[in-house]
Amino acid sequence: MKGVLILDCISVGLLGLGTVGTGVIRIIENHQEQLSHQIGCPIIVKKVLVQNVHKERAIKIDPSVLTTDPNDIINNPEIDVVIEVIGGVEPTKEWLIQALRNKKHIVTANKDLLALHGPELLKIAKANGCDLFYEASVAGGIPLLRTLAEGLASDRITRMMGIVNGTTNYILTKMSKGGTSYEVALQEAQAKGFAEADPTADVEGLDAARKMAILAGLGFSTQIELADVKVKGITSVTESDIEYAKQFGYTIKLIGIADRKNEKIEVSVEPVLLPLSHPLSSVNDEYNAVFVYGEAVGKTMFFGPGAGSLPTATSVVSDLVAVMKNMRLGVNGTHLFSPQYEKCLKRDEEIILRYFIRLLIKDEVGSFAQIATEFANHGISLKRILQHPIHPRETAEIVVTTHRSSLANFEKVFHRLESLGTIQTIKSIYRIEGEDE
Ligand code: NDP
Ligand code: HSE
Repeated sequence: MKGVLILDCISVGLLGLGTVGTGVIRIIENHQEQLSHQIGCPIIVKKVLVQNVHKERAIKIDPSVLTTDPNDIINNPEIDVVIEVIGGVEPTKEWLIQALRNKKHIVTANKDLLALHGPELLKIAKANGCDLFYEASVAGGIPLLRTLAEGLASDRITRMMGIVNGTTNYILTKMSKGGTSYEVALQEAQAKGFAEADPTADVEGLDAARKMAILAGLGFSTQIELADVKVKGITSVTESDIEYAKQFGYTIKLIGIADRKNEKIEVSVEPVLLPLSHPLSSVNDEYNAVFVYGEAVGKTMFFGPGAGSLPTATSVVSDLVAVMKNMRLGVNGTHLFSPQYEKCLKRDEEIILRYFIRLLIKDEVGSFAQIATEFANHGISLKRILQHPIHPRETAEIVVTTHRSSLANFEKVFHRLESLGTIQTIKSIYRIEGEDE
């Protein structure tokens, strides 16, 4: 057995000093005593890569530490660990590969990169005897990945369902409380540092899809590609949808679902209707929460801040502590995730779900009967029906919820409804979850 390595200090190179990078510096400075106690030596931040060294920063930092040359970190023999909080795929990926080849351990918050190139990077890390940890990439401040990999290692995970994007949860919370428009809520989320550099990734569901791909891969011990995740964002969610949902006893949340049944997997991200009494319905603002169902443990729920400077940096610095503990024991690169199972995705016939549908139809004899017939023809039973006559008088608004059927059946009905002369507009279609039937 290797002896415990005695270290004088750990030298860190930080790529990025934005929302998360600033939090990392704050935590290393403010918790230095506690961190040194845990790892047995102080942490020194040697170099910090930024785009603009003259930019005004929220923290005081020695200007000589700042650099615009990534080589000062990735090719610097004095640096042991690289913390990557720049984001994006290129050139970040090449920088991290170079750092790994130089035997530097990596801590990153970059889900874009991990969702696309995680397996490749983990392989390179292992080949170089390096750690590559990415706790902050999913659900910001919630220690979810380590919980799956260690705390629930003895169980077999069957389902993960939750809110994994802080920005969209912030927007939907503000919209549903009334008085704040989608646009204003998005600007607020950006100003608070929750949103991605390009917030399209948040509102179109891509950020959540990246996280669900990472979660599903880890939880089900297989390799899930980003393209395997069915994705729909929140850009089409309207205040009327939220109001109608409330009338039916639901709230709308952007929900990630990773489900495994009979070895077949489904991964999706979409705005979902949840009963107001469901625990995820009261997870508001930038908070995230994920239910993890295990065959042995049953239902567990993890809740916490999903974005923001200090919460995310907490996960980043905890990964740093894990790297350092491994360094002292000489076991870096030995605990990297490697998938056990071949991936097998569910077909649309095997995905069973319910829907909420809102339509504008012609207010005339037989109109609703035609719609009901389409559902009946595909074996789908309607659960609740609401009709509002609206102006002009020849139009009516119909809201229905269904019982369960397969996604394949629903897709056939939705296709048929689009061509039905009696339907003026399909206003919205939402999956319903979290309700026992
Ligand atoms: P920011 O946009 O706030 O910060 C990015 C930093 O990287 C800035 O300091 C910027 O420099 C620097 N940078 C960007 N491009 C380059 C470049 N080409 N060369 C050198 N420096 C560069 O991002 P965040 O801190 O919000 O996010 C960082 C990562 O963390 C992303 O991967 C994100 O997805 C992830 N993440 C973010 C969370 C959050 O709540 N914000 C939560 C969880 C994960 P300069 O300051 O000079 O402009
Ligand atoms: N933009 C992301 C979010 C940051 O809002 O959840 C945390 O990953």
